[in-house]
Amino acid sequence: MNNFSFVNPTKIIFGKGQISQLATEIPSGKRVMITFGGGSVRSNSVYDQVKIALKNHFTVEFWGIEPNPDYETLLKAVIVAQENNVDFLLAVGGGSVLDGTKFISQAMSFNADPWKLVKNAQLCKPSVPVASVMTLPATGSEMNGRAVISYRAKKEKLAFMSEHMFPKFSILDPEVTYSLPTHQISNGVVDTFMHAMEQYMTYPAQAFLMDRWAEGILKTLTEIGEKVVKDHTNYDLMSNYMLCATMALNDFIGMGVPQDWATHRIGHDLTAVYGLDHAQTLAVLYPAFLKVTKAEKRDKLLQYAERVWEIKEKDPDKKIDAAIEQTEQFFRRVGLKTRLHEYQINDEAVEIVAERVLLRGIVYGEHKNIDADAVKKIIRLAL
Ligand code: NZQ
Ligand code: ZN
Repeated sequence: MNNFSFVNPTKIIFGKGQISQLATEIPSGKRVMITFGGGSVRSNSVYDQVKIALKNHFTVEFWGIEPNPDYETLLKAVIVAQENNVDFLLAVGGGSVLDGTKFISQAMSFNADPWKLVKNAQLCKPSVPVASVMTLPATGSEMNGRAVISYRAKKEKLAFMSEHMFPKFSILDPEVTYSLPTHQISNGVVDTFMHAMEQYMTYPAQAFLMDRWAEGILKTLTEIGEKVVKDHTNYDLMSNYMLCATMALNDFIGMGVPQDWATHRIGHDLTAVYGLDHAQTLAVLYPAFLKVTKAEKRDKLLQYAERVWEIKEKDPDKKIDAAIEQTEQFFRRVGLKTRLHEYQINDEAVEIVAERVLLRGIVYGEHKNIDADAVKKIIRLAL
C-alpha cells in the first residue's frame, strides 16, 4: 500500500425531508448566496423546501449555472456575491452547480486572474464556506474537494482539486432525484462506475480493503444500475445509488492506491470540443481505453473479471476480453452509447484530441505513459 494522507471534513446529512436541516446547519446571521442551475429545482419542490428552511436567513439567489459550469457565468456570480457581502455559499443542484460554487468561493478571495486557480490548485486557500443540496447523484462533488470548470470561449475544460474546496456539509435526499430525466440517471450511473474504476483499475497495490470497497461499489452498480434507469422513484434503490455516487469519489477508495484518471482527462477534451456530456465521453472512451492498456492492467483486469462480473472462463486473455465486453454492454444497458460515430463524431477527432494532449505536454495514467500517440489509438478504437 502506498503512503497517503487523508482528510474528508464534509458532513453528510442523508434522507427524506432533510433539506429542512439547512435552518440550523447554516449559522444564523450568515449572509447566504444560493446558487442554482437552470430551474429544475422549481419543478420538484426543492426550491420551496430550501426557501422555507432559510426563511430567517439573509439570502440572495444566483441562477443559471449551466451543465459544465462556465467560467464567465461564474465570474458574474462572484460579483453578485461580493456586492452582497456574502459569507456563505449554498449550491442547490447537480455537480455543475456545486463545482461552480466551489470555484466562486475561491475566486471571491483571490486577487489575481481567477483562471489561474483552475490551472494551479495550489493557489486555493481557506475561503467562504460552501455547502450543498445535491440533486443529482453522479460526480461525488458533494463530499470531495474537486471541481471541473469549462471556459467555452477558450474551448477548455479543466479539473482542479484542493483540500480548501470540500463542502462544509451536503444534504442528500434521495426523493429529490425522482424528477431526474432518464438520461441523467444513465449518465450518473456511468460516471459513478468510472470514478470507482479510475481508482481501482491500475495494478495490484496490496490495498485489499480499498479493492473490496471499490468492488462493492462496482458490484452494487451492476445490480441496481439498470433498475434505477428504469424506475428512479424507488426510495431504497435511489438511496443506494446516491450513496454509491458519494462513496465512489470521496477519497476513501483512493487511499494508498495508484490512480489512473486518463479516461476522465481525455473525456474533458471531448466535452470541450464536441459538447458531449461528461459521462457520454467516459462510456465511449473506456472500452477502447481498456483494450489499449490491457497488458499493463492485466492483473487487475483478471481480478475485476472474477470479482465484479464473476466470469469463469479459464483462458486469461479470453477472460479479460470478456470483462471489457461486459463493461461496454453494461454502459449500453444503462442507456449510453459506446462509440463516437453514434454521436456523429468521425476520424478527424483522432488528430484533434491528440493535438490537445500534445500541446498540454502532459502524459496520463498510472504509469504516465498515455501520451498523444496512445490517445490516437484509443480514439481510433472508439470511433
Ligand atoms: O440546471 P438544472 O435546471 O438544475 O438541471 C440539471 C442539468 O440540466 C439537471 N438536474 C439536476 N438535478 C435534477 C435535474 N433535473 C431534474 N431533477 C433533478 N433532481 O441535470 C442536468 C445536468 O446537471 P449537471 O450538474 O451538469 O450534472 P452532473 O451532476 O453530472 O455534473 C456534471 C459536471 O460535473 C463534472 C463534470 O465534468 C461536469 O462538468 N464532474 C465533477 C466532478 C467532481 N466535482 O468531483 C467529478 C466528475 O468526474 C465530473 O468531471
Ligand atoms: Zn466523472
